[in-house]
Amino acid sequence: MQLNRVGFVGWRGMVGSALMQRMRAEGDFDAIAAPRFFSTSQAGQPGPDTGDGRDRAPLLDAADLDQLAGMDAIVSCQGGDYTEATHGRLRARGWRGYWIDAASTLRLTAGASIVLDPVNRPVIERGLAAGQRDFIGGNCTVSLMLMALDGLFNADLVEWATVMTYQAASGGGAKQMRELLAQMGVAHDAAEGLLADPASSILDIDAAVTGALRSAQLPVAATGGYPLAGSLQPWVDQDLGGGISREEWKGAAEANKILGRGDGNGNGGRGDGNGGGAAIPIESVCVRVGVLRCHSQAFTIKLKRDVPLDEAATIIGEANDWVSVVDNARADSLARLTPAAVTATLDIPVGRLRKLPLNGGGGYLSAFSVGDQLLWGAAEPLRRMLRILREH
Ligand code: HSE
Repeated sequence: MQLNRVGFVGWRGMVGSALMQRMRAEGDFDAIAAPRFFSTSQAGQPGPDTGDGRDRAPLLDAADLDQLAGMDAIVSCQGGDYTEATHGRLRARGWRGYWIDAASTLRLTAGASIVLDPVNRPVIERGLAAGQRDFIGGNCTVSLMLMALDGLFNADLVEWATVMTYQAASGGGAKQMRELLAQMGVAHDAAEGLLADPASSILDIDAAVTGALRSAQLPVAATGGYPLAGSLQPWVDQDLGGGISREEWKGAAEANKILGRGDGNGNGGRGDGNGGGAAIPIESVCVRVGVLRCHSQAFTIKLKRDVPLDEAATIIGEANDWVSVVDNARADSLARLTPAAVTATLDIPVGRLRKLPLNGGGGYLSAFSVGDQLLWGAAEPLRRMLRILREH
């Protein structure tokens, strides 16, 4: 379909900036007759450069429903509050354009599909055919897990999985990334004099750093009130009670919806609605670590049948264009299977593949993967959804 007017909201924030970078790099703006950029605070000022030589149209007011309702599609990276305040009112006045965002507000609603097209293009196509108009990017951790284990899920080999996450500060927002770096600076400053002296005691260095991280002066407003540098936080997102975090709950709810399993709305029940079969149990412990923008995850996967390791590796590595298998050896793992190696790329390396002799059986597989939280975890599925609309 021809997308004439596409509105972008929240394009200046962190995810929005990653989206803009990717859209410019892929020439996506060329195929949009009239990209329109909205702002919550700077309407009237010149819009961004779309990299295709066209004039920079002035920014429109992100609260102006008349302007928004003139769009064929709206892509919002503005966050859940904006979706909450805007989407329902636009629909209530009869707007029938496509709403694409990265917030959790609409993800598990019956009228929305979660988009991760390398994994669930059929679910997206079914949604389009059924007249759906809300296409929402998934939780970053879930999208990165599914990109990594796409082959196993697609072959219906996963009986259940447990996930231990190592989530980057970017998942908590740009302010959290800045504060993590500030905390690293404080930690270094506290030990700088001692570090300069090769004869100083490492326990004195540790005591100086620990003292700084525990001090009331450490900036912690954006890291949930506690240090992240030199530490970790074994809780991500809200406390849902019963000992589970919202991030952990999403692991199963969103993954099954993306895969078209369960009741198709993330409720995990048997029976489907999307033809994808029963929900797969996925249990997580989600942990924030002092990394900038790559989420890492360690998996234990119970396979439905005892697939040989080399076959499992082939299934994983051939599933999509971005996943690759890293040899389960020290040098390869340290060189390729880390946030430092993967950041700012679309690569989804999966390594540490090993059969676990649990219960005396062979149907258990361990794996570790890394992915950029801002790309496949946030911006890339949105960008690609616009392309899918254009292909229709
Ligand atoms: N909730 C995720 C995190 C980010 O805190 O890392 C968004 O998907």
